[in-house]
Amino acid sequence: MRSRAHFRSHPLHPMLVHFPIAFLVGGFVADLAATLFDLPDLQIAAWYLVAAGVVAGLIAAVPGLVDYFAVVPPHSSGKKRATRHLITVVSALTLFAIAWALRGGPGVPLDGVVLVLEAGAVVLLGMGGWMGATLVVRNQIGIDHRYARAGKWKESHFDDPGAVPIVVARRDELEVDQMKLLHVGDRRVVLARSNDGYVAFADRCSHRGGSLAGGVMACGLVVCPWHGSQFDVHSGRVCAGPAEETIEVYPLEVVGDEVRLTLR
Ligand code: FES
Repeated sequence: MRSRAHFRSHPLHPMLVHFPIAFLVGGFVADLAATLFDLPDLQIAAWYLVAAGVVAGLIAAVPGLVDYFAVVPPHSSGKKRATRHLITVVSALTLFAIAWALRGGPGVPLDGVVLVLEAGAVVLLGMGGWMGATLVVRNQIGIDHRYARAGKWKESHFDDPGAVPIVVARRDELEVDQMKLLHVGDRRVVLARSNDGYVAFADRCSHRGGSLAGGVMACGLVVCPWHGSQFDVHSGRVCAGPAEETIEVYPLEVVGDEVRLTLR
């Protein structure tokens, strides 16, 4: 087993993005007002606001990239949305940076091209912000949505052993209705404990790829956090949609104090 930092639920990116949005939109509005009403002092303020906004955007991008690579479930609708969000926001920041570089300095009179670039960047920022908000409220990225008695978030990494069993937990590691996310090679598997003992199933909802390890487990069912599909944790069958296809389940055995998983 390889230990690695767990990035499951931290709101750092959603909190930090307020700063670049405020600075950059404020910079554009100040530039617009300075041009319309001939207010050169406001234009100087805009120069600093846009510079601060680009720097704040780069800082906010760091936890955003961590979320993108370590938290958003792969092969899911959330991952596609996160990719569009990333491209849109990077494009907006790039346009703002180009506009800022073109204007030459805080006291230099504004070129119309700068305003057009900033306007385009604000539109992109709005689109990217909308997608980012959807990632939070619908895909629950950056939200701690653990349920009662779920226990602490557990996650472990293993090299892919092929068809050889691997020890993935101690017998008493999980309480009934608790789950643990396993990364085995490039596969994601949920280890869970039901009233009937340990079970293992794919960490991918068959509807749109939500992470079942981030869902709720109770009474032998796991509930997907994205749209509420329910699966039997023993057979993988769908008990409630919108999912229509079963999820894969994997054989486990408990030998002495060890819980052993075999991936076919
Ligand atoms: S992704 Fe839609 S119910 Fe799981």
